[in-house]
Amino acid sequence: MAPVHVLVFPWPLQGHINSMLHFAAGLLGAGLHVSFVHTEHNLRRVDLVKAAASPRLRLMSLPDGLPDDHPRSVDDLKDLAKSLITTGTVPYRALLASVLAADTADAGFPPVSCVVADGLLPFAIDIAEELGVPALAFRTASACSVLAYLSVPKLMEVGEVPIPVGADLDELVRGVPGMEDFLRRRDLPGTCRLRAETNDVDPLLHILVNYSVHSSKARALIFNTTVSLEGSALAHIAPRMRDVFAIGPLHAISAAPALPTSLWREDDGCMAWLDGHIDRSVVYVSLGSLAVISLEQFTEFLSGLVGAGYAFLWVLRPDMVGESQRGVLQDAIDAAGNDKMRVVDWAPQRDVLRHRAVGCFLTHAGWNSTLEGVVEGVPLVCWPFFADQQINSRFVGAVWGNGLDMKDVCKRAVVEAMVREAMESGELRMSAQTLAQQVRRDIADGGSSTTEFERLLCFIKELTA
Ligand code: UDX
Repeated sequence: MAPVHVLVFPWPLQGHINSMLHFAAGLLGAGLHVSFVHTEHNLRRVDLVKAAASPRLRLMSLPDGLPDDHPRSVDDLKDLAKSLITTGTVPYRALLASVLAADTADAGFPPVSCVVADGLLPFAIDIAEELGVPALAFRTASACSVLAYLSVPKLMEVGEVPIPVGADLDELVRGVPGMEDFLRRRDLPGTCRLRAETNDVDPLLHILVNYSVHSSKARALIFNTTVSLEGSALAHIAPRMRDVFAIGPLHAISAAPALPTSLWREDDGCMAWLDGHIDRSVVYVSLGSLAVISLEQFTEFLSGLVGAGYAFLWVLRPDMVGESQRGVLQDAIDAAGNDKMRVVDWAPQRDVLRHRAVGCFLTHAGWNSTLEGVVEGVPLVCWPFFADQQINSRFVGAVWGNGLDMKDVCKRAVVEAMVREAMESGELRMSAQTLAQQVRRDIADGGSSTTEFERLLCFIKELTA
């Protein structure tokens, strides 16, 4: 059989790139060739030397259509989405046509036989199929969040969504199958709430719903999750798709080569700082790659963390509180500062979570961070910021029991109390560790995710035969 070559195309954001690169690493580990598509902007930020160590991996790039100095933060996601669609489709079509052509095969890579595109890039799936290349969708978010988006049309029909401004957010939502007993209005993706300023529906909600529905056109939908975490959501999604594969948590699949994922420079110095602390004595704080917080929220977090009394390692991206506030922040950090605090722009998060000194993880409950915390058995305190994070944190607090959900509250007393509980509760630690063992069984030989990954490899090979 001719060698199989998969083109992998993520949304150009850190959380999407990470899980799709781990997926690419899994394909490389199984002997396949991979072309991984970055935007030109992001390709300039990744460690190309590390990438070159994998001979069957090729990094490619497309323009995202934005000037280099245009922000690509959370407030500007709509610009990026619009720009990708208006300016990215023509170069993507050309790129795909070029990797199908014979001259690429001469360069050592066989022609592309299959595309795996981010489910939030439906055009990448449609164009591939138009060119005769079978395309699969990959969602980097949790299956429970995708099920919530798929349920939105029904929720709208029965009046459960949109959620009016001022509504009781603790009321249960009945229309998401399998979650009737615990899913509250506040746990739905934030876009399900009417926007307070304008009292209207966020257009992003319709886009996310349409994109989720669109995955049914792909040959299959792949999730970076596992049956033991999200079996019920997966079972409800499966009948709506052509096929579904749950193959995660991909970052923990050991056979895969390590690929360069970070768009920021990791501050490795924090590992030596952790070495100087006793077991389970440090709180790790990171709100991911997109969340931005106000100065007031920063102050509440800082006071709560100092009040809890434990050492903490805090990732504060330079764009997280606004560049203009950086001086104020530094003053506050210096004023509160002692050797118990370490602040970094960006950390080697997976290594940090694996470190024996880390006792709990204050996280925004992004899907990658949630999975990374789950695999290491570290109790979580979740402060979800947007999108799928709201529902992920509900699963942490009410279904899996490996952490606490601090949703919609940012008060120093609550931060302090929850951090203390996560650091000190034997019950919480036990639940987190039991969950970690369960998920590790899924990715071990014969486990559900391993078996699903093997089925996916056969599926791809058959599609391309
Ligand atoms: C968002 C969504 O919340 C997520 O669910 C969706 O699938 C992608 O977009 P993001 O804010 O990037 O994600 O969070 P998360 O999914 O947790 O991804 C962040 C990644 O950056 C993690 O893999 C984490 O390990 C990494 N990271 C974060 C670092 O390597 N260093 C840091 O200092 C902080």
